[in-house]
Amino acid sequence: MNKKTVKDINLRNQRILLRVDFNVPLKNGIIQDDIRIRAALPTIQYILEQQPKSLVLMSHLGDPKKDIQKAKEKAEKDGKPFDENAFSDGKHKMKPVVERLSSLLQKPVLLAPAAIGAETKAMVDQLHNGEILMLENTRFHKEETSKDAAEREKMAKELAQYGDLFVNDAFGTAHRAHASTETVAHFLPAVAGFLMEKELAYLSKATTNPVKPYVAILGGAKISGKIDVIQNLMDKVDALLVGGGMMFTFFKAQGMEIGKSLLEEDKIDLAKKILDEADAKKIKLLLPVDCIAAEKFENDSPTKIVNVTAIPSDMVGMDIGPETIALFSKEITAAKTVVWNGPMGVFEMPKFAGGTNAVARALAEATKLGATTVVGGGDSASAIAQAGLEKEVSHVSTGGGASLEFLEGKILPGVAALNDK
Ligand code: 3PG
Repeated sequence: MNKKTVKDINLRNQRILLRVDFNVPLKNGIIQDDIRIRAALPTIQYILEQQPKSLVLMSHLGDPKKDIQKAKEKAEKDGKPFDENAFSDGKHKMKPVVERLSSLLQKPVLLAPAAIGAETKAMVDQLHNGEILMLENTRFHKEETSKDAAEREKMAKELAQYGDLFVNDAFGTAHRAHASTETVAHFLPAVAGFLMEKELAYLSKATTNPVKPYVAILGGAKISGKIDVIQNLMDKVDALLVGGGMMFTFFKAQGMEIGKSLLEEDKIDLAKKILDEADAKKIKLLLPVDCIAAEKFENDSPTKIVNVTAIPSDMVGMDIGPETIALFSKEITAAKTVVWNGPMGVFEMPKFAGGTNAVARALAEATKLGATTVVGGGDSASAIAQAGLEKEVSHVSTGGGASLEFLEGKILPGVAALNDK
């Protein structure tokens, strides 16, 4: 990576402004998975060891915009005034996150009432001796995600007043050009944290000069979500394995019967184009040869293992079948670099998690045999965790959208804005 990191600057007695991605799943105010908080601990601990004057953390949590919209509509209906900037609700508040961080660090972490504003600035100004303050959800302010650069700059300039140095460790949000991720980096010396560095190192290793054989496994429901990744990786890999719901659109493009399986009608031509391109370029694009078909889209539905050329017209494909598992596993375990993004079937239903779990096992096996194995965030990260194998692969990304955009070959704005080495 050609970007500066926390190791390249002097942090002692400095006021550090750190962007993290603590966008964790919450249910009734309880954190369901704190991996993103744990993943930022090495950077936080390193910063604290360097004896900074203060450490101010910021993150978004969920998307309050939708709730703001709802509240606005309600206020209009009730004939009441509505101040968007003052709006906040329980669902997106950082309190549970701050409590978890504090318990993991075993140190007090203060919470500011907002990300910007006079009250928060006053709190920041009082910090000393390495005290830690977390800002309230940055997305409570519309400027954070505004398309208007001047609005983003206004917020970023306020945030920049909280620090002498900006550290970005929020890989999961690096694909967003927001005030607290990208814009603020233009107003302070800006470097990467360890998580950002690690994510970029693994994803680059798996995309730039990968050790061969290089195998990519792509799954998930829709071709539309993966098309750019398929196109970017196609010329680079030794084999591209395609599973998940999108396989049925590929089958349809080949003129096959897919029954009641998932179909993206408007992507059939695109699927055909990809298959023709792979053919013309002699790229090994492997589609499943069999699948588990169910009578209904339900976990307890009766099922049948069928060849993909013989999917009954009244059944729905739910997962890859045993022959495909054997075929894919052979490719994966023979590889020296593996990238996986997207489940092989409806893995949320235990009966149809077999294909996804088998791919997870094959990745673990390949890792043991010396391969570098990288799992994209989002669904694939949940899938490998569900299989209990997240520690058996080289790297599980904390970024869903961010790792996807990286694999698409896009520049991540949050990274681009950091200072070069
Ligand atoms: C994520 O969960 O992928 C990141 O935190 C980014 O969140 P967003 O998709 O709401 O921008």
